[in-house]
Amino acid sequence: MASNGWGTLFKITTWGESHGKAVGVVIDGCPAGLPLCVEEIDQALAQRAPGKSPYTSPRDEADRAEILSGVFEGQTTGAPLSIAIANRNCDSSKYEPIKELLRPGHANSTYLQKYGVFDYRGGGRSSARETACRVAAGAVAKKILRHYGDIQVAAYVAQIGAVQAASQEHNWSRLREHTYASALYCPDAAATTAMSALLERALAEGDSVGGIVAFIVNPVPKALGDPVYEKLEAKLAHALMGLPAAKGFEIGSGFAGATWKGSEHNDSFIIHEGAARCATNHAGGLLGGITTGMPLYGRVAFKPASSIRKSLPTVTIEGKPATFTLPEGSRHDPCVAIRAVPVVEAMVALVLVDALLLDRSARL
Ligand SMILES: Cc1cc2nc3c(=O)[nH]c(=O)nc-3n(C[C@H](O)[C@H](O)[C@H](O)COP(=O)(O)O)c2cc1C
Repeated sequence: MASNGWGTLFKITTWGESHGKAVGVVIDGCPAGLPLCVEEIDQALAQRAPGKSPYTSPRDEADRAEILSGVFEGQTTGAPLSIAIANRNCDSSKYEPIKELLRPGHANSTYLQKYGVFDYRGGGRSSARETACRVAAGAVAKKILRHYGDIQVAAYVAQIGAVQAASQEHNWSRLREHTYASALYCPDAAATTAMSALLERALAEGDSVGGIVAFIVNPVPKALGDPVYEKLEAKLAHALMGLPAAKGFEIGSGFAGATWKGSEHNDSFIIHEGAARCATNHAGGLLGGITTGMPLYGRVAFKPASSIRKSLPTVTIEGKPATFTLPEGSRHDPCVAIRAVPVVEAMVALVLVDALLLDRSARL
């Protein structure tokens, strides 16, 4: 199975399956001298952990990271940084009844086609358990970003079903303060109430709903990213569309921008504190694939989780008609966008750290 990693200079490789002994990540290219302790990684993992609200899967899974290499006396050494996260609380026997069935909306049919073998226990590599590794690596990336000019990455639930939160692009302090205090990782209290009602209905019906996660980076150094094939928005799209259940990506005005006129969309330049800057930021902080210095912002759409209590028609791996019913007590999220928030932050941080390190070789 190829392609288990991300990055050019700050490069991660993740390993492990959801019902194996552990999952983990190896970070190659982490600069030496970064103060790092395991508690900082655990803190990030706690934000992704399920069971934090009635609307995320009800498992009791306190993730604890173990740093296996790359840190000596509280600092990174520049050697490969290896982090393991033990899998606890996984009962594989629950999945026995569905092991012969193609799972609607999940990945066992395509994995079977490609590899001829599938780890049916919780989805194996296709399980979102893998995203814990991304969050662990993201915690390291965020520390590096803080070192380079206190660059901060934030994400929040911008939409669940048809309920939209007010845009937070211009409300940075509110965003930082309220997102993780909200059970839905949504800083807009009124929208949270409406989203909760929607999720209650979905849970009562044994169904799931989709959602959108917005991300913002601020402050952003100028001139990160490369033109043409390696445009920073292309790298962000690649990194974020690689997340499980991701179905859409946009940067800046995104799809809405396609309905505007050039005269409305162009970000005019003005003089601000003696230097040129954009008066507006419809471009989302990027021109020609390179950062303008304005905040970077975009959104990722997540499909409704495939694991639902409603039964659906399916086919066995032998090709006979069957019914797919999620095993009693199996783990699932009614809206994956909620727990995707720290994962989106992690991926954005990984893209930016890689861009920062690459930028150091841009010119003499
Ligand atoms: C944080 C997070 C949690 C997820 N939890 C679930 C879940 O509980 N049930 C489920 O069916 N899918 C869940 N998913 C999505 C599946 O992993 C994903 O749909 C599956 O791997 C198939 O990949 P695809 O949807 O990208 O095609 C989750 C995704 C994320 C990002």
